[in-house]
Amino acid sequence: MQTFIENLPKAELHLHIEGTFEPELLFEIANRNNISLKYPTVEALKEAYSFDCLQDFLDIYYQGAGALITEQDFYDLTYSYLKKCAEQNVRHTEIMFDPQTHTERGIAFSTVIKGINRAVEAAQKNLNVSALLIMSYLRHLSEESAFQTLTSSLPYKHLITAVGLDSSEKGNPPSKFQKVFKASIDEGYIPVAHAGEEGDADYIWEALDLLQIKRIDHGNNCLQDEKLVQEIIKRDLALTVCPLSNTALQVVKDLKDHSLKKMMDLGLQTTINSDDPAYFGGQVNQNYIDTQKALNLTKEDLYQLAKNSFKYSFLPEVEKTKYIEELAAYYLANK
Ligand code: ADE
Ligand code: ZN
Repeated sequence: MQTFIENLPKAELHLHIEGTFEPELLFEIANRNNISLKYPTVEALKEAYSFDCLQDFLDIYYQGAGALITEQDFYDLTYSYLKKCAEQNVRHTEIMFDPQTHTERGIAFSTVIKGINRAVEAAQKNLNVSALLIMSYLRHLSEESAFQTLTSSLPYKHLITAVGLDSSEKGNPPSKFQKVFKASIDEGYIPVAHAGEEGDADYIWEALDLLQIKRIDHGNNCLQDEKLVQEIIKRDLALTVCPLSNTALQVVKDLKDHSLKKMMDLGLQTTINSDDPAYFGGQVNQNYIDTQKALNLTKEDLYQLAKNSFKYSFLPEVEKTKYIEELAAYYLANK
């Protein structure tokens, strides 16, 4: 099973680039920028990676992102993740980035996007990994701040495919961002949002109806509402499920209790993703491996999950077909 998963062609659809910041690289970049970290060593930092809830994690995640200053930092961070994609047979990835985490600290939007994009272009050429970008608004900040981010992004619109919504979910419902999502759609961005990770099913309804999202990030709590499940199926929206994130943030107590298989059995279209792999103990392949073991997933289930990762990506149809055919050939030869 492990070899089958490792060689399985797949896409990653839920990944925060700031969440790929491995402690070793974090220390290297902090040192060259003369930034002193709260933790004296890589080991001490790693020990702090134990979380009671989403906010607990976010506090540490934003501190880590504070070491990123130059375009080269953003390049190094992104390229380092894309190399891991190549090693894991991740053929395509849709990378979220949080501009406000950086612009709030005085880093220019252009610095962030140029560094990330240069890495994406290099990976396409050198690693044969394709990537597109999702600009995520921070929901703990105001809608006005999101509007400023939208404006800053416009000179780089050709480099960004979608907009997302992340950070502290509870108390920051999708309705807070209805206007900026409408404006983002008018600019040609595809809308997605984190919904139902810690928030209840009514946050998912809002994300569907008020933000018009085309994919649901996490979505775990849709199972609270049978009508919602049917609506998600009717609209053919995929859930980007992140199993190791869910256990790390206590959304799910034990991987054995994870509802991924139940979701699949209900007819929901799901994918497996790593969310913030540097913080949650595993890259995307580890998410597949641990979930397969915990839920007894079959090769057919894994094939379906990988197929969904391409089908529900935002790639052009010809690209999707190319990857899905490659995956089908792999499955046929290895099932
Ligand atoms: N930002 C990075 N990871 C996140 C998550 N799992 N939920 C919300 N915001 C995030
Ligand atoms: Zn996320």
